[in-house]
Amino acid sequence: MSKETDDNKADAGEGLLSRFGTVPDSFAAATPHKLYRAMIVPLRSLRRQRILVNDTTKIAEMLESRAAEFSRPKEVPKESFTELGRTIFEAGPEQYARIRPLVELAYSPAKMKRYLPRVLEAGEEAIARLAKAEGPVDIAAEMQRLATDVSLRIVLSLNVGEGEGGEIAALLPDVATRMARTGMVSEFGGKDQPKGKGSDGKALAAALDAHLEARVPGIAEFKGPADVATDLMLTQHPETWERLDAGFVRHQVTALLVHGSEALAAALSWALYATANDPEIEARAGIEARTALEATGPLEFRTLARLRLIPDILNETFRLYPPIPLFARRPRQVELVTDIAVRESGFLFISPWHLGRHEAHWEEPERFDPDRWQRKSKGTAPGHHFVPFSEGTRRCPGAGMARLDCMAILTQILGTFHLSALPERIPTPQPGLALRPKDGIWLNVARR
Ligand code: HEM
Repeated sequence: MSKETDDNKADAGEGLLSRFGTVPDSFAAATPHKLYRAMIVPLRSLRRQRILVNDTTKIAEMLESRAAEFSRPKEVPKESFTELGRTIFEAGPEQYARIRPLVELAYSPAKMKRYLPRVLEAGEEAIARLAKAEGPVDIAAEMQRLATDVSLRIVLSLNVGEGEGGEIAALLPDVATRMARTGMVSEFGGKDQPKGKGSDGKALAAALDAHLEARVPGIAEFKGPADVATDLMLTQHPETWERLDAGFVRHQVTALLVHGSEALAAALSWALYATANDPEIEARAGIEARTALEATGPLEFRTLARLRLIPDILNETFRLYPPIPLFARRPRQVELVTDIAVRESGFLFISPWHLGRHEAHWEEPERFDPDRWQRKSKGTAPGHHFVPFSEGTRRCPGAGMARLDCMAILTQILGTFHLSALPERIPTPQPGLALRPKDGIWLNVARR
């Protein structure tokens, strides 16, 4: 491209094409601001083409209208990752076609009703732990435990306090670290990434195999605990009547436990931090939550559906601290992105983090302002600039469940405790498998 054309593009399109953006040292750092202004940013890389896509028309093509022309990158190098490479996230087309509808069914609205009491029970136990705290609390550590507890209760009818559940819970963080080390965030670059190699998943695979094996005799008689694992194990092929093989089920259970608990923990932790950091919002959220708790005894669907501020806090959290800050696609054939021919080996990054802070998409993007969703300010109408759960055929099938979990738990916690941030401890977001705080999130927690 000639220099003249380059200049024209920069003049005409607010940095429509910004050549060679550098990856910030910290993924989350506010600089270089170019990443929050330009629409297409080729990132420096010696290894392969890597392009950040902030342009919503292109994102809509990649996720929806031309989704079949892009693949989800295989994140898991086979040689180092034998136990974790067959999940719904990496499944080839044939396996994917079989597993996706089952996962959707396992998290359908009817099932969500079944699981709400378990979520509330896990929330009550977290509240009992928080009530004993003296001095500032690492709310991120608490939310990690709570999110793991919720996932175990829904997927396996276990909980973190029990022997088998506790054993599985203890193995999950290292597996998440390994997935993050080999995943999209490490492809994106940046120095600020989780430390350690993590675990190859063999110990987790053995623990899950033992658990699922014990269910097999019951499954043969169409019996099993009411949970996601049983739903997957009971399914029969509509023509051959074959059941999913046990190894395949175990892979899906692993993916649901790891991704579900990491993403949920991130959502809850950052929502509580952002709320605690804004005393006015915190006070209003406390009143809304207490009113909801006092209305019906145990929280119900219809009470949660009447909340206004807490869902807005959640949306604002998904915008500023998206639990999955980055995902990627690869073109199946050479793809022209503005004037760049992206090869099949290249990565096209979709970053909810950068989209959520993008100056062209939002008013005052850096400001935590839950009320913008009621004011219907710029950016709050649905669109491909706000894709915390992705969109299209591969949209997160746990999105409905995750929103419900978050609304219920935030209502329980904000209705019970008054939270305030410690000005001297500002958390640093660190992208791993989900967006974690680097050294925890420390808050003062006092009963209302
Ligand atoms: C706030 C919480 C959550 C967020 C923000 C989130 C976000 C996402 C995103 C962005 C993707 C797409 C990734 C890609 O295409 O590369 C995804 C996929 C997925 N999510 Fe979630 N997720 C959350 C919670 C959950 C939960 C609780 C479950 C269920 C246990 C779940 C199950 C899945 C599955 C199975 C996929 C793969 C879908 C496919 O490839 O077809 N997620 N999620």
